[in-house]
Amino acid sequence: MNEKPSVDSDVKALRGAFSNFLTGVTIVCTVDPSGNTRGFTANSFTSVSLDPPLILICIAKTASSYEAFRQCKSFSVNVLGESQRELSTIFATKAPDKFNNVDIRYAKTGAPIIVGSLSWFDCTAFNYVEAGDHIILVGRVESFVNGQGAPLGFWRGNYVTFESEAEAMRVETPASAYVSCLLDWQGRVLLCRGEDKSWTFPAASTASKEGNHQARLDRLLSKLGVEAEINFLFSVFEAASRGETYIVYRGTVTSPPSEARQSSRKVSFFTDRDLPWDDLPAPEFRVVLERYFRERDGSAFSVYGDAGLDGSIAALDSQPKHWRD
Ligand SMILES: Cc1cc2nc3c(=O)[nH]c(=O)nc-3n(C[C@H](O)[C@H](O)[C@H](O)COP(=O)(O)O)c2cc1C
Repeated sequence: MNEKPSVDSDVKALRGAFSNFLTGVTIVCTVDPSGNTRGFTANSFTSVSLDPPLILICIAKTASSYEAFRQCKSFSVNVLGESQRELSTIFATKAPDKFNNVDIRYAKTGAPIIVGSLSWFDCTAFNYVEAGDHIILVGRVESFVNGQGAPLGFWRGNYVTFESEAEAMRVETPASAYVSCLLDWQGRVLLCRGEDKSWTFPAASTASKEGNHQARLDRLLSKLGVEAEINFLFSVFEAASRGETYIVYRGTVTSPPSEARQSSRKVSFFTDRDLPWDDLPAPEFRVVLERYFRERDGSAFSVYGDAGLDGSIAALDSQPKHWRD
C-alpha cells in the first residue's frame, strides 16, 4: 500500500510551509538565576489577551536559554525594527557574549530591555504550556512602550525590510530606468548576453508606460523562455557610467529556458566561481552580484538603494506601486 509520507517524515517540508507565514522579529530577554542576561531571537511572538494583558512566545527545548526562561519570574519581548537586523542575527546564535555592546536597561519587573526596539513588553511569567519540542511561555504585560518605525520582517527564512523597499519604490523613475531581476536556479544565477556582448541581469526598460513592474518582468521572462517566481525588491542602483538606473528584484526560476536557448549563449546560469566577472556592463553590477551571492549564502537578503560605488537611488518619474498591486 502506498502510504502518504507522514508529517514526521518530512519535517523540512513542514518547516518550509510554516515559513510562508510572514512574521515580525523579536528578541526575548530574561535574567537567569546566576544573574546573567539571556536572550534569543524569536518570531513566535503572539498577542493573546487584552484583559488580562497576555502575550506568548514559544521556546525550543534545545535552546541553551530554555531552562532560564522556563524558570523565569519575568522576561521582556522586544519588537525589532529594520535597523536591528544585525542584533537579530546575533541573538539567533548560542554565543555566550550576545549582550556585549548591546544597549540595555532594566524594566519594572527586572527584565532586560533592548534600547532602540520598536516596542517592548515587560512581562511577569503567567504560565507555560508543554507543546512538543517547545514550551509556550505566556507573559502578563506589566509595562510596555509603543514606539514608531519600520518593522523587521521574516519570511521563508529571509529577513524582509518594508520601509526600505517602499522608499525605493517611491523615488521617481528617470527616463533610462530598467526593471530587472536576479533569478536563482539550483544555486546559480541567470544572466543574459547584452547587445554589447556583456553579461547582465535580464532587464526591461521602463520608458514606455506599459504595465507595472511585474507585467514588464513577465513579458521579459517569457521572451527569454523562463518561468520564475519573483519575490522581493533587492536593489535600486545607478550605473553611473551608463546613466542608467536599475530596479532589481530577486526570485527563483521555476522552469529554466530550453537547452537550445541556453546553448545559444543568450542566457546562462552562473555560480560566483564561473561568472564572467570581467564581462559585466559596469562595475556597479559586480557590487550588486557580490552582495547577492554573499546574502544568499547567509540567507539574509535585504534591499539596497545604493550599489556601493557612486551609485545612488535615482529620481524615478512615476510613483509605481508595489508590483504585486
Ligand atoms: C527569525 C528567527 C526567529 C526565531 N524564532 C524562534 C522562536 O520563536 N523560538 C525559538 O525557540 N527559537 C527561535 N529561533 C531560533 C533561536 O533564536 C536560536 O535557536 C538561538 O540560538 C537560541 O538561543 P540560545 O540557544 O542562546 O537560547 C529563531 C531564529 C530566527 C533567526
